[in-house]
Amino acid sequence: MSRWIDRLLVAALVVVVAVLCLTALPFLAGHTLGGPGLLTHMFASGALVIGLPVFALAFLRHLPYPSRAGRLYSLGFLATVALGFLTIATVFLCMLPVPATEQMHALMTAHGWIGFAMVPAIVLLLLGMLRSRRTASHLHS
Ligand code: HEM
Repeated sequence: MSRWIDRLLVAALVVVVAVLCLTALPFLAGHTLGGPGLLTHMFASGALVIGLPVFALAFLRHLPYPSRAGRLYSLGFLATVALGFLTIATVFLCMLPVPATEQMHALMTAHGWIGFAMVPAIVLLLLGMLRSRRTASHLHS
């Protein structure tokens, strides 16, 4: 049962991050986000703000993972969570009456790149999950 909850959480994370990255693609072409794309980005970002802590708490129980495959898993997990919280933090910092306009631009640029860096982190996590599962089924066979 808990394995299915893990799979559901990872699938939801993959979908939400995919939507966030797809809606942020204009940034890579040097454009600003706008229209329905920006609206979808905002919806998906709400899902990440709620979902990331749930995912992080649920997956913490797997740490530390001593096997080699488990190290990949742990690295992918920690990178995904750290980068996810940093993307959120950059937006929250912009909401405070502290940064100047230039600093806000810098924060949003960092926000975009940190967000895109979640893709390789999630790939690591998925590879680690696959390998750990294979190692586990090999041990039990
Ligand atoms: C995989 C995750 C994410 C990626 C790849 C991503 C990417 C981006 C990019 C590239 C931009 C445009 C930056 C610029 O114009 O300089 C942007 C804007 C924005 N993002 Fe994200 N983002 C992600 C997650 C989030 C999250 C979790 C939040 C909310 C907490 C969020 C809220 C925003 C906001 C408010 C903007 C500004 C929109 C505007 O131009 O008015 N994003 N994002």
